[in-house]
Amino acid sequence: MAARDGLVLALPKGRILTEIGPVMRRAGIEPETAFADPEARQLRFTTSDEALSIIRVRSFDVATFVAFGAAQLGIAGSDVLMEFDYRELYAPLDLKVGLCRLVAAEPADLASDDDPSRWSHVRVATKYPRLTRRHFAARGVQAECVKLHGAVELAPSLGLCRRIVDLVSSGATLQANQLVEVEHIADISARLVVNRAALKTRAEEVGGWIERFRKAIDGAPAA
Ligand code: PRP
Repeated sequence: MAARDGLVLALPKGRILTEIGPVMRRAGIEPETAFADPEARQLRFTTSDEALSIIRVRSFDVATFVAFGAAQLGIAGSDVLMEFDYRELYAPLDLKVGLCRLVAAEPADLASDDDPSRWSHVRVATKYPRLTRRHFAARGVQAECVKLHGAVELAPSLGLCRRIVDLVSSGATLQANQLVEVEHIADISARLVVNRAALKTRAEEVGGWIERFRKAIDGAPAA
């Protein structure tokens, strides 16, 4: 459990982490040097603000740490938030980084003679089984999902599933695996998330950070 006297901010490893640096600096958060050291084995870091420490975890785990109150604040992609749909999380701010989209994709040769609007059942490999089932159920399609934790684009060529649901940013991974996008599911960006209970019990501190991030998105340095 986090010490009562300090707040914990959970950050996701990977793409969002590299893009979020300038926003964090404008919010007045300077992590200790080890945070930028890829060799460092520590997972929790102090910051220039002694009332805030940072943990670096897998993107899906940001939502879990914050939902259970182990961290009071976090930065997570809206893909992760939609997948879990935790009631304990409040996502007040779109940080406008980590922009990408969630799509359904399939091999180009299949797509040439396929019409997703005619699907009644679809089998996909994905990191997002709940989101995928919800999305397709809303338009009357039953989605059967094979859950993977990465390298989803391998699934069609190896016969695991003909189709996938995954994030696309530049489109390079789809192209390198001879896949094409056939359905747009959602636009994705990184969000600031807070634990709802912490927002009530530590309103001044947690609310203060929401305000600092709000100003940081607008480009203003922290006062
Ligand atoms: C993400 C995503 C795609 C890829 C899309 O994977 O799941 O595979 O990036 O990016 P692109 O459109 O710019 O090629 P990530 O790099 O996070 O690795 P993963 O496959 O292990 O999840």
